[in-house]
Amino acid sequence: MIVFGLEGTAWNLSAALVDEREVLYEKSATYTPAKGGIHPREASQHHAEHMARVVGDVIAYARENDLQMDAVAFSQGPGLGPCLRTVATAARALSLKLEVPLLGVNHCVAHIEVGKWRSGSTDPAVIYVSGANTQVLALRQGRYRIFGETLDISIGNAIDKFARTVGLSHPGGPKVEELAGKARRYIPLPYTVKGMDLSFSGLSTAATEAAKSHDLADVCYSLQETAFAMLVEVTERAMAHAEKKEAMLVGGVGANKRLGEMLDIMCRERGARFFLPERKYMGDNGSMIAHTGLIMFKSGIRTPLAKSCVRPGFRTDDVEVTWGPTNS
Ligand code: ATP
Ligand code: FE2
Repeated sequence: MIVFGLEGTAWNLSAALVDEREVLYEKSATYTPAKGGIHPREASQHHAEHMARVVGDVIAYARENDLQMDAVAFSQGPGLGPCLRTVATAARALSLKLEVPLLGVNHCVAHIEVGKWRSGSTDPAVIYVSGANTQVLALRQGRYRIFGETLDISIGNAIDKFARTVGLSHPGGPKVEELAGKARRYIPLPYTVKGMDLSFSGLSTAATEAAKSHDLADVCYSLQETAFAMLVEVTERAMAHAEKKEAMLVGGVGANKRLGEMLDIMCRERGARFFLPERKYMGDNGSMIAHTGLIMFKSGIRTPLAKSCVRPGFRTDDVEVTWGPTNS
């Protein structure tokens, strides 16, 4: 079967076609703010402007290759309200036009499912790190339970905020990573783990302060080392607690090589396996929505129009994981 998926919770509008085995086609349009961080209304206007071209391109590909779409999946939440509404409107219209079922997909669950699909991990502790989320999760009794999460801002937001205040453009993550590679020394910064939860707000502010009197590369390096060490600590405890022999990294910040390296070392030291999906499936993409829609569809889930309203605060553990074989 073939499922069309549409993602657009924040900066990336992306449509894709997948079948059980592979991604058949994907088309994206990226919103880059002219100044500062993501502005929800501007991002949704961007999505509205590019919707016809992005969706039209995928539909044209399906037609040219004689592919029949069996369902339309869309990112129902969590995300920015105006962006979600633009995406849901397009998805509803397409589902009605094609006369195929609609599937509302949880964006965070989609990051996890596409990660498992592409990396081969079957039952991991998941480190989900992005611009809006920082969570350590594991599947237990049919739901992705949150073992630890940030108490304030996400790790991606902390890095992006710091980057903006020191004059680096959005998104700051990749630029901070590059500068960190040129560092010569570690500058102590606040390390905040409370039980299983994390806090990044004070760390981001302290790094901004440190940048006033220290070399920027050293501060970038120290910010990464501190934030990533906090994440590794919580992940290791979640693995012990949930008795998981695998760990998997997903979300945009997962593109960071140093974070992957630190998690890999921790896993090896405890005789566990570390899984890292390909970079293109780390950040937001249409394929992750299409794939999750496909496995949901196969387990009998449908989203009637009346239940297709957007869910900006949709939590990962609100979703009942009824599909297998990922449901261990
Ligand atoms: P979500 O809605 O799931 O929170 P998102 O909209 O934030 O996702 P993602 O693509 O998952 O989008 O993540 C974007 C984040 O990833 C940004 O904060 C960006 O700085 C960060 N990022 C991207 N590449 C890197 C990198 N190499 N190192 C660190 N952070 C990175
Ligand atoms: Fe995301």
